[in-house]
Amino acid sequence: MSSTLKPLTRRPAWKALAVHQKKIKGRHLRELFAADPKRGERLTAEAAGLFLDYSKNRVSAETLKLLQRLATESGLRQRIDAMFAGDKINITENRAVLHVALRAPKGATILVDGKNVVPEVHAVLDKMVAFADRVRSGRWLGHTGKRIRNVVNIGIGGSDLGPVMAYEALKFYSDRNLTFRFVSNVDGADFVEAVHDLNPAETLFIVSSKTFTTQETMTNAQSARGWLLKGLGGSTKAVAKHFVAVSTNAEKVSAFGIDTANMFGFWDWVGGRYSMDSAIGLSTMLAVGPKSFRAMLAGFHAMDEHFRTAPFAKNLPVLMALLSVWNNNFLGAETVAVLPYENYLKRFPAYLQQLTMESNGKHVTLAGKAVDYQTSPIYWGEPGTNGQHSFYQLIHQGTRLIPCDFIAFAHALTPLGRHHDILLANVFAQAEALAFGKTPAEVKAEGTADWLVPHRVFEGNRPSNTILAERLTPEILGALVALYEHIVFTQGAIWDVNPFDQWGVELGKALAQRIVPELESRSSPNLKHDSSTNHLIRRYRKMKSSR
Ligand code: F6P
Repeated sequence: MSSTLKPLTRRPAWKALAVHQKKIKGRHLRELFAADPKRGERLTAEAAGLFLDYSKNRVSAETLKLLQRLATESGLRQRIDAMFAGDKINITENRAVLHVALRAPKGATILVDGKNVVPEVHAVLDKMVAFADRVRSGRWLGHTGKRIRNVVNIGIGGSDLGPVMAYEALKFYSDRNLTFRFVSNVDGADFVEAVHDLNPAETLFIVSSKTFTTQETMTNAQSARGWLLKGLGGSTKAVAKHFVAVSTNAEKVSAFGIDTANMFGFWDWVGGRYSMDSAIGLSTMLAVGPKSFRAMLAGFHAMDEHFRTAPFAKNLPVLMALLSVWNNNFLGAETVAVLPYENYLKRFPAYLQQLTMESNGKHVTLAGKAVDYQTSPIYWGEPGTNGQHSFYQLIHQGTRLIPCDFIAFAHALTPLGRHHDILLANVFAQAEALAFGKTPAEVKAEGTADWLVPHRVFEGNRPSNTILAERLTPEILGALVALYEHIVFTQGAIWDVNPFDQWGVELGKALAQRIVPELESRSSPNLKHDSSTNHLIRRYRKMKSSR
């Protein structure tokens, strides 16, 4: 498909945007709002329980029209259809991209190589439900006959960030009789601290790894096995009662010693960073129960349907993606700050970092040509209001343009006095201050000394989106995650890159495999790296032998 498209910078809409950018560059959001008193009501859209206000972006009606034309010229419609049809759009791995099938309703049909995958998805879901019910009700017993009280998910990247984020996001709905821990880092401190106060007889490990070969996860899983057997008297029979696996690789699961009857599968058409609603979400289901998990899937599906069917002008993921392309490629923004004013979403920015940057951090087009434009911006963020007392200074008065996505909810899950109104006042205030700022005349009028005026001026004209929803429910979490998944998809379509591979992580992994024996060998290894790496290795070996 991509070969029939013009290179991005030669598409008519791109060229028109480049010309248009010069016209709009000097216009301030103050002017844009003054010229259109209803702008704040007009530049909004709504879907799957999420209300989006994108009026505080530096765009005119013309900009929006050109951006939507760019989406059309980039073949976005065809790419959306190709994804939902199960076409192998992950061309470098020859795979379909079907996280949308994970939340398709039971009767749906989505074909991969002529086979409907939806029944398999529901078979795994049913197996997860049966297992979750046994653990949550206390019917699943550990090796010594005790019920499970602790669940430890071992995984990294997509096999960790989604589960952690979802656990934190939905903690309000979770069973407080169960303790959840997440181990990802190969740094032993992660595992040691996670199990420090746990009783092995009451602990269940979920080893989550799509490939079941990831160095960090396998190392942690082996340590968990050792810890469990040591704590339970050494019988390897205990493993079956305390370990389950989530993977696409039954052979490796079985080689590790986990009964494949206790394995929850998924498929190569689910990317790691798109997998939190597959069996990788087993810890989420254990925490919040099958009903809430299914509600989360329904939220994902509602956003999928919106993305698939809504016209671009009203399509939340398409609008947000196009605005990010505008900010990134035409206004020169290098990052996007994601700022949830909801403490339960504290891990959402970290989750989005993998979703966005592992997907669109690419330097060649689908055809393998070097791009001559920027691809993914850097995503980062922290929950509000904490960030306000740390890095917001730079967003307000620094020299860089940092578009912000504010996320807020009308209702607190845990209402407490005046807290929620104060929280929401802050999110609205930040977006307002960023957009409109404070002019030298306004600062002066407050009686500020002349020399101090420049320090107290806020230029404004800083773009932001505000996403507002009723409350953080499992459905809304699903819709929110799907929103960003489809933003990433749309960005990838515009930039003509493959958001579904991650070859960029391979080199470091391969080098680490080579270096491990060089650190562990008793005799001096024959090092063949560059002089810096060789020297660091020698220095480390010396330091560790002189402890
Ligand atoms: O190294 C990157 C990566 O492959 C991610 O894409 C993935 O989410 C993570 O590692 C973990 O992979 P796995 O689930 O196979 O252990």
